[in-house]
Amino acid sequence: MKVSKYLLLAVIVLPLALAGCRGEKFDSQPVHPNMNMDQQERFEPQEKNEFFADNRAMRKPVDGTIARGDLKEDKAYYQGINEDSSFVEEIPVDLTKSFIYRGKDQYEIYCTPCHGNTGDGNGIVMANNYGYVPAPSFHIERLQNQSDGYIYSAIANGIRNMPSYATQISVKDRWAIVAYVRALQKSQNVSEDEIQQYDVDLTALQEDYQEKLAAEQAKKEAEADDDGEVTASRGQTVAQNNGCMTCHSTDGSKLVGPTWQNLYGSERTLDDGSTVTADEDYLRESIVDPSAKVVEGFPPSMVPYDYLSDSEINSLVAYIKSLSENAE
Ligand code: HEC
Ligand code: HEC
Repeated sequence: MKVSKYLLLAVIVLPLALAGCRGEKFDSQPVHPNMNMDQQERFEPQEKNEFFADNRAMRKPVDGTIARGDLKEDKAYYQGINEDSSFVEEIPVDLTKSFIYRGKDQYEIYCTPCHGNTGDGNGIVMANNYGYVPAPSFHIERLQNQSDGYIYSAIANGIRNMPSYATQISVKDRWAIVAYVRALQKSQNVSEDEIQQYDVDLTALQEDYQEKLAAEQAKKEAEADDDGEVTASRGQTVAQNNGCMTCHSTDGSKLVGPTWQNLYGSERTLDDGSTVTADEDYLRESIVDPSAKVVEGFPPSMVPYDYLSDSEINSLVAYIKSLSENAE
């Protein structure tokens, strides 16, 4: 009987006593008999490890290591080019409505500041005359005829004065933007027959457009009225303010465009093999309608500066003339 009394005590009191410990705070570490790899030896970033000859704990991956999911074998998709390095003709992604809308979102974030909402090249950066190289309109024939891979490459690699947007825009979104640029091009080049198929009031649209044109014309004329002086030094300022110097040098070096040193009075060979003398008329035409005569060996990438006033254009001509030994 005596024994069972102690047993009773043990059975009732011990669990109570143990339960009483729950929730208490301890300063010492909990007993952790089986480590189960819960704590392991390891190295902090940049820590020393004498095991290796160079003492670096951080090891370089073996040459040629490619992270999972980073094998970019599909050249058409990742680079927009075929095996022979030519640009792919068509977007290598299935086109859906939501994909094109995604492209619209991304276009409006990344491209409108320069290329404008409709892709006409009149984004806010251009409109404010910050001296940035003008962005071309996507609606000119040359760009309508370019392949999809060409536009993709402009986003991925940049083109001439336009920087690359590869770090900001994912591969998929780049293609979505290409799709949207194509949609914009289509929207600006619809034939009348095609419009007729939809319920569009063409006359009203045309009237609106004519009104807008007239307003712009009036604005231009008003600006032309306060036409200023024509001097070479003003021409230099105009050239700097309009970004001409990002493509043209005055020291004989070749940038995107031909140098202006000794341009005036020299003989120019054009891309069709013919030659012209660079007189004042030629310079003027080169500024307001650069694609009329394209110099051999250069891309037809200069946009028309027909919005400059007459005195600005003539000042530019005077400036270019002043850079030439051929000037009288
Ligand atoms: C900061 C202004 C700026 C932004 C933003 C910009 N571009 Fe451009 N883009 C330019 C300029 C300037 C050029 C002309 C460069 C040259 O000719 O030196 C150009 C040229 C291009 C061309 C080549 C046109 C040709 O003449 O062959 C394409 C295509 C193009 N941009 C597409 C895009 C797309 C798509 C985006 C949005 C992802 C974009 N750009 C964003 C300024 C910009
Ligand atoms: C995006 C680069 C670019 C910008 C910006 C640019 N140009 Fe050009 N320019 C060219 C290229 C490329 C050519 C040669 C192809 C051609 O004739 O269209 C050229 C040709 C010319 C020529 C004829 C040159 C020759 O050797 O016969 C003149 C003049 C000229 N540009 C003036 C200007 C002026 C003035 C500005 C600024 C208001 C300007 N350009 C801005 C690229 C540019």
